[in-house]
Amino acid sequence: MTDKFLSIEGIAKRYPAKAGGSVAVFEDLWLTMERGAFTCIIGHSGCGKTTVLNIVAGLDEPSEGTVIMDGQEIAGPSLDRAVIFQSHALLPWRTVLGNVAYAVTSKWRSWSKDQVRKQAQIYIDLVGLTGAEHKRPSELSGGMKQRVGIARALAIQPKMMLMDEPFSALDALTRGTLQDEVRRICQETGQTTFMITHDVDEAIYLADRIVLMTNGPGAVVAEIVENPLPRERKRIDLHKHALYYPLRNHIIDFLVTRSRTFTQVTPHHDPRAVPVVRPSPSPPASVPGAVQHHSQRESDGVLDGAERPDGGAPQNRDRASLAGSRLSGAP
Ligand SMILES: Nc1ncnc2c1ncn2[C@@H]1O[C@H](COP(=O)(O)OP(=O)(O)OP(=O)(O)O)[C@@H](O)[C@H]1O
Ligand SMILES: [Mg+2]
Repeated sequence: MTDKFLSIEGIAKRYPAKAGGSVAVFEDLWLTMERGAFTCIIGHSGCGKTTVLNIVAGLDEPSEGTVIMDGQEIAGPSLDRAVIFQSHALLPWRTVLGNVAYAVTSKWRSWSKDQVRKQAQIYIDLVGLTGAEHKRPSELSGGMKQRVGIARALAIQPKMMLMDEPFSALDALTRGTLQDEVRRICQETGQTTFMITHDVDEAIYLADRIVLMTNGPGAVVAEIVENPLPRERKRIDLHKHALYYPLRNHIIDFLVTRSRTFTQVTPHHDPRAVPVVRPSPSPPASVPGAVQHHSQRESDGVLDGAERPDGGAPQNRDRASLAGSRLSGAP
């Protein structure tokens, strides 16, 4: 049985419109995440990714709907959910150790200084900052600051880590190294993670599932793409894998074309039965993006409506092959 660790249930976010009434960033958005899974969300600027993440973080409230994490409705921020933003809001007067220790103390208020220091040190070591414990943020590079942010988030052992474009302000080399670190840590610790990115390769490298969101206003989750690459993948040879280009092309095709047209060409899209797709290795020439499709009703896990969301031919052949795989359970 699949574990719905996080369940986003019919959330909407509306703002007052200038001309009166309201404008919906999104409506009736449903999404689930498994315990230990790494989920990335991709979509164009302004579609509502940060809004979704902030609602999950408890920093923002939905206009409608609810989010359940580990059986409990989310109502406000909690140390169960650690957020890492693009800019690493560190306390400038505290050292690396001081910043991480501060977070540890806020979670475990009765801990002794020594306990706090030990816990902080574990995560400082984990993100590769051993030796920099006594530096202040002004003495650190952008990559090091982001590492402190990651150490601080992990040190409170959150049930869920939420990351909003955490590496986008970094140079390519540092970004790559930090992606490796985050992947290693998440695999080693089984950390459930939800991350926003604009970088398709970053999503392919890190995520188990990639959520594709259409353009706003009125954005919808169009598809959930299952990452078919092996779990032991390496960043530097991702592109050598036979499934890399089918996967990448599918996501790029969505971002370039389908994210704009999806709602018009898919009028019967059911937000509670978002298609789950899995790029396949040998694309028949007639199938753009070469993906296996099925959809899952978020509420009951029943496979239904294996229809291409872009209006193409149904991919019934894929249902049988998917039925026995781990895709067949509820998301
Ligand atoms: N206070 C507000 N009042 C009105 N509209 C708002 C407000 N805050 C956000 N929005 C709108 O909500 C939409 C979604 O914003 P959000 O920040 O979630 O987008 P995003 O997908 O994270 O974009 P980006 O990729 O640029 O970070 C945007 O169109 C934005 O203009
Ligand atoms: Mg954003």
